[in-house]
Amino acid sequence: MDKIRIFGGTPLRGVIPIGGAKNAALALMPACLLTDETLSLSNLPHLVDITTMANLLSQHGVSMSLNGHAANGGHTGRVLELTAANISNTTAPYDLVRKMRASVLVLGPLLARCGQAKVSLPGGCAIGTRPVDLHLKALEQMGARIQVEGGYVVADVPGGRLKGAHVVFPQVTVGGTENTLMAAALADGETVIANAAREPEVCDLAHCLIAMGAKIDGLGSGTLHIQGVERLHGAQYSVLPDRIETGTYAVAAAITRGDIELVGARRDLMQSVEKVLVECGAVIEDTERGFRVCADRTRLTGVDIMTEPYPGFPTDMQAQLMALMATADGASMITETIFENRFMHVPELARMGARVNVHGASAIVRGVPKLSGAPVMATDLRASVSLVLAGLAAEGETVVNRVYHLDRGYERVEEKLAACGARIERIKDGDAAE
Ligand code: EPZ
Repeated sequence: MDKIRIFGGTPLRGVIPIGGAKNAALALMPACLLTDETLSLSNLPHLVDITTMANLLSQHGVSMSLNGHAANGGHTGRVLELTAANISNTTAPYDLVRKMRASVLVLGPLLARCGQAKVSLPGGCAIGTRPVDLHLKALEQMGARIQVEGGYVVADVPGGRLKGAHVVFPQVTVGGTENTLMAAALADGETVIANAAREPEVCDLAHCLIAMGAKIDGLGSGTLHIQGVERLHGAQYSVLPDRIETGTYAVAAAITRGDIELVGARRDLMQSVEKVLVECGAVIEDTERGFRVCADRTRLTGVDIMTEPYPGFPTDMQAQLMALMATADGASMITETIFENRFMHVPELARMGARVNVHGASAIVRGVPKLSGAPVMATDLRASVSLVLAGLAAEGETVVNRVYHLDRGYERVEEKLAACGARIERIKDGDAAE
């Protein structure tokens, strides 16, 4: 398995291009199942999770072609055309779903378009139990008959068409809102989703569905009204920039006391992260192409953080902020309210000299003057990148194992950081250097 080796301590200076949002793309791609016409998606990131979703969709019978010219060594400039003219298979098999939980997002569209679906239950995950009960309850309210058999959700719709319903989510769920939104777009009558997720990726999906002919009101609010339509048509849609990739490189600038311009990034999507960065002492300024984050003349101070649904502080930035707080002056309390097991990076950061005590859902971080490099390993995507960030700030060598987690969510991470002066390299599986 590939590893990443970092020699830390260099302030990063330069420019980093921000790609399309992974979590928006993973909801937009299954939306192609809702129409027999072509959905063209541009600004898709080039990531392992996107390939997994493409594999899943192709085994449902979706035909795909990647057109246009690649720029910046990634997928920028390329357009993925997805056409679900004939859905030949409505089963999402365990082998694909276990690789990526977002596979469950085919359930709503398959039920709406075909009236049946069999989707493997994703099972547990490194950051929590992550059930999909709220997705299933919403679809049942819309008339689906659902059973769990042999590890699969087996669902059908008596009469063939889902019906509009009043769905009240007892807690905010991004994937649950997305599945219900897609199902409701083709249901008979009106669906109201109360306590809907307001994440920008959910709004991106809603905008794309509207471009496909869906009737949705209330975007960006906690209540969505969807008038089901008879059919949806093809559309061209560009994925919004990744706010978590943006926030991660913003932390890279701050943790190395550097200065990085984030090109193509949208500042309005990360206001809660910006607030924390500014409070701890970083400077953020608009540029013509995005914005820059600079911490080169400042000492940073600890700030308290609590993760919350959007527009609150994102759980997907919690690990990165913990790495930053580990190098700030004073103490910081970090509270995780979304996932029950999202502190797996703590023991690894501790191996690099971070002082962190976890009490239930909260962690007290006491900043140290310097972290020290160490071999580390992580269990999920954001935990992995927090260790890369810590390695960039640490004295000496850090080797991050299990890089496949990073490749699921960060495109060319080592190239982007090296372009800003980081001493970072990928050690390929089997290299003598290992
Ligand atoms: C999405 O996951 C993201 N994934 C996650 O990104 C992100 O951390 C999360 O939203 C929260 O922002 C994608 O968009 C592909 P939820 P999702 O449903 O939709 C509980 C990353 O690193 N819940 O909003 O699965 C659940 O267990 C990742 O990119 C139920 O109890 O998250 C959690 O505690 C990881 N029953 C909370 O709700 C359900 O049926 C929020 O989960 C659904 C969720």
